Amino acid sequence: MHSILIVDDEPGIRQSLKGVLEDEGYKTSSAESGEACLETLAKRAFDVILLDVWLPGIDGLETLQRIRDLENAPEVIMISGHGTIETAVRATKLGAYDFLEKPLSLDRTLILVKNAIAAKRLRQENRDLKKQLTPRSTIVGNSIPMKALRQQIQLMAPTNGRVLIYGESGTGKELVARAIHAQSLRKDETFVEVNCAAIPEDLIESELFGHRQGSFPGATTDKEGKFQKAHGGTLFLDEVGDMSLKTQAKVLRTLDEQRFTPVGSDELVTVDARLIASTNKDLEEEISRGNFREDLFYRLNVIPFSVPPLREHKEDVPLLANHFLKEFSATYGRRAREITDDAIETLMRYAWPGNVRELRNVIERIVIMNPTITRFDRKHLPPLVHRDGSRRAGGEFSTLHQARAAYERDYILKKLDEHHGNVSRTAEVLGLERSHLYRKMKTLGIAAKE
Ligand SMILES: Nc1ncnc2c1ncn2[C@@H]1O[C@H](COP(=O)(O)OP(=O)(O)OP(=O)(O)O)[C@@H](O)[C@H]1O
Ligand SMILES: [Mg+2]
Repeated sequence: MHSILIVDDEPGIRQSLKGVLEDEGYKTSSAESGEACLETLAKRAFDVILLDVWLPGIDGLETLQRIRDLENAPEVIMISGHGTIETAVRATKLGAYDFLEKPLSLDRTLILVKNAIAAKRLRQENRDLKKQLTPRSTIVGNSIPMKALRQQIQLMAPTNGRVLIYGESGTGKELVARAIHAQSLRKDETFVEVNCAAIPEDLIESELFGHRQGSFPGATTDKEGKFQKAHGGTLFLDEVGDMSLKTQAKVLRTLDEQRFTPVGSDELVTVDARLIASTNKDLEEEISRGNFREDLFYRLNVIPFSVPPLREHKEDVPLLANHFLKEFSATYGRRAREITDDAIETLMRYAWPGNVRELRNVIERIVIMNPTITRFDRKHLPPLVHRDGSRRAGGEFSTLHQARAAYERDYILKKLDEHHGNVSRTAEVLGLERSHLYRKMKTLGIAAKE
């Protein structure tokens, strides 16, 4: 049953609203002041509040603002008397759902209450969905570098400072960016990601800044750019080192002026987005090669973060492995519970060139491929990770042919791993015919696991 809180200092209004609403099957409570309303809300949740604009003590607007600060706040419908309509209109700008005028119309009251309840439900559903969709941003690891990273995030997140995240592929740069956003003052606003490496050069400008219909072939409608989408929130420029010099120039101008013009338009758009960038390249080297603008680098690099490769915090491997085991066990509905010490030891000896992402893929793969196993042993691990990373590869081969075969084997195993053992997909990314890859696997002694 939906519950409604009636807040009005006139007993007559409280009484008649109570009668009307209860006849319709709603549960009601009443309060005669803003203070009493907030006290009631501290004890119980409501779907809708009918709130008089004029109240003794703290007034309706002030009460509204405090209600809006509550977690999972009810929808508020303002009730306005003769002289207070303007205030009621202002209240809707402050987040009230709508307003009713005295004398109250029975029909309008009931319609508004019904709509407000629907709006509240939608808002709740929206929040739940967002929660499900937002990738979790928990950074797992108790090693000193991971603890330091978490501490640095905590310190820097609430500032609006631009962040540049360095790290090899798969170390968790995106995770760090999301964690910064999640702990920032902008956490309720959007986090917008742009993968500069994945967008074709001639489209990136329109992707970032939007375009007007007809500004280039293929621009059939107006498009909002990522900078606009991130307004009020955070814009994550992933792999910023892959941006062309032309785009860099426009990004630089946008950062300086906090304004830009969409492609094919002369209208200036103002933006307020916190910028987080990431790169796996050494940008200073890119600058010396003329591939990256030095002025842009200094603007992005206000707060540098560096995410260490997994081989530098191997003590986190057990925690991470168990974390991913739990995750994938839940995702795939498996009962996998445990990784033996023996298997953990093997995982800790491996060098993890693909960092945490590679470890995550390995765990996902063993969970998928062993549906009935609850306890993972050394023998369930893919062949690649049995290679001892503490030994440097190379010296143990007597011929070039042997070295090349070993390298090819590792490389193909790694790619197969990334695609969960799917040979067709792997062949595609390697640019080989599927039959060719099969032959290669056979000569190299790799068993197909499809
Ligand atoms: N410390 C960690 N705790 C939990 N999960 C992690 C951690 N580090 C990385 N991951 C997970 O590993 C995967 C790779 O991380 P992420 O995408 O953030 O890396 P990246 O540095 O952006 O990689 P790339 O350079 O390949 O884009 C993600 O699924 C991420 O959730
Ligand atoms: Mg990334």
